Parts: sequence; structure tokens; C-alpha cells
Amino acid sequence: MKWMIVEKAEALAQVTYQLLKNEIQRQEEGLTIGLATGSSPVGVYEEWCQDTLDCSHVTTVNLDEYVGLSPTHPQSYHTFMKEHLFNAVAFKKSYLPFGDTEDAHAESERYEHLVRKLGVDLQLLGIGSNGHIAFNEPGTSFDATTHVTKLTESTREANQRFFDKLEDVPSHAITMGLGTIMEAKKILLVASSARKAEAVRDMMEGPATTDCPATILQRHADVMIVLDEEAAALLS
Ligand code: F6R
Repeated sequence: MKWMIVEKAEALAQVTYQLLKNEIQRQEEGLTIGLATGSSPVGVYEEWCQDTLDCSHVTTVNLDEYVGLSPTHPQSYHTFMKEHLFNAVAFKKSYLPFGDTEDAHAESERYEHLVRKLGVDLQLLGIGSNGHIAFNEPGTSFDATTHVTKLTESTREANQRFFDKLEDVPSHAITMGLGTIMEAKKILLVASSARKAEAVRDMMEGPATTDCPATILQRHADVMIVLDEEAAALLS
């Protein structure tokens, strides 16, 4: 694992966007980038929206979507991506799982097949304070493919800030599995704030265990972790 520590969240967004941009400029055709939602990538997306980078050769695939929310639901990840990136940057094609499907398990299988067919060149990740990546909660098998997952109460509480009240936060999500994520050629994980410090320490210094799903990244050959000082505070 390689890592970089920057002072503040602003620098974190700039550095991370530059790494993404290098990849986009380096590979002139047929690039697939895996994208995340939540607070972690928002600054990176702001940088991206302000740039004039040609992304017409870039396909994007998102990590996850809430089960039960339609693409037009204000809190769906489809809407999040439109508001934070897709309205401003033109990609070749963008994919997210559909959460409003009648059969979320069949949708998971379809999405897994799609992601593997595309092949992710670079996957952008955040990390949950319980060590989840995408919505692979503690206890998820390291081999998991795209699946329906029950969100832990701590994840629902953490994401409540995007909804009016806790009851509105969906109980389940469709998420790329840890096995799916590990297929990406490169991984770029961003974490900021003290809220992430324990998970970051466990991910980088703890034993590889499903108790902290992000520890699987220790087994990936090309991972870059960009941290602000608060998120890096517990590293030895
Ligand atoms: C969302 C996702 C999640 C978030 C994680 C951290 O697509 O993949 O794993 O990265 O929950 O969320 P924030 O960034 O809101 O702290």
C-alpha cells in the first residue's frame, strides 16, 4: 500500500483529482473508472467539475445504490452522481445499479457481469468509520461479488445526514463485493477527518480480517491512499 498525507481536506481533493486526471490523460481510449458516493469524493468531484478535461473516452461505474430508491429519488446515488459530477462532466457512458428493481439479487448479478465485462482500470473509494468499503459491512466475505447487503445501524446513522430522518434511510443496498473491487487494476482511497482515523489505522496496520473489510486492500498490488492529517492521526 502506498499513501500520502496532506494537511487539509482541500488539498486532499486537489491531490486525488490530479491522480485521477493523470490516469485519464495517460490512457487515451477505453478507460473505465469506478466511482464512489458519500462525502469523501465530493471535493474531488468539485475539482473535476471545474476542470475542462476531456472525458469522452471514459466510462464510469459506481459502487452501489440503495435498494428501493428510484434513479430520480433525491437521495438515490443516481441523483447524487448527477448533482455532483454527471451534470457537469460528459462521460462516454455511466452506470450505477438500479435500486428500484423488483429483484435486487438479479440486478446484483447483472451489475457484477457488467463490471467484470468493462474491467475497472481505476477504482475511487471512501471508507466507512466501521471499515466498510462500498457497502461491504464487517463480516462480508473477502470473495463477495456484487450483492444485496443489509446496512448496519452505524452506517444508516452515519448516512442519516443525507435524509430527513433515520427511518428514511434504506435498510439495504446493492453493492459491488470485495472480490469485485479487488479486480480493479488500481485503487485510490480517500479518507478525511478524525471520524475515519480508527478505520484507517486498522486498514493499514491491522491484520487482514473481515472484521475490517478495507483490510483486504493490503492484498492488492496497486493501492494509493490519500489521507488528511486527522484521518492519519492514529497511524504509528
Ligand atoms: C459510497 C461508498 C461508501 C462510502 C463510505 C464513507 O458509495 O462506497 O463506502 O465511501 O460510507 O462515506 P463518507 O464519505 O460519506 O464518509
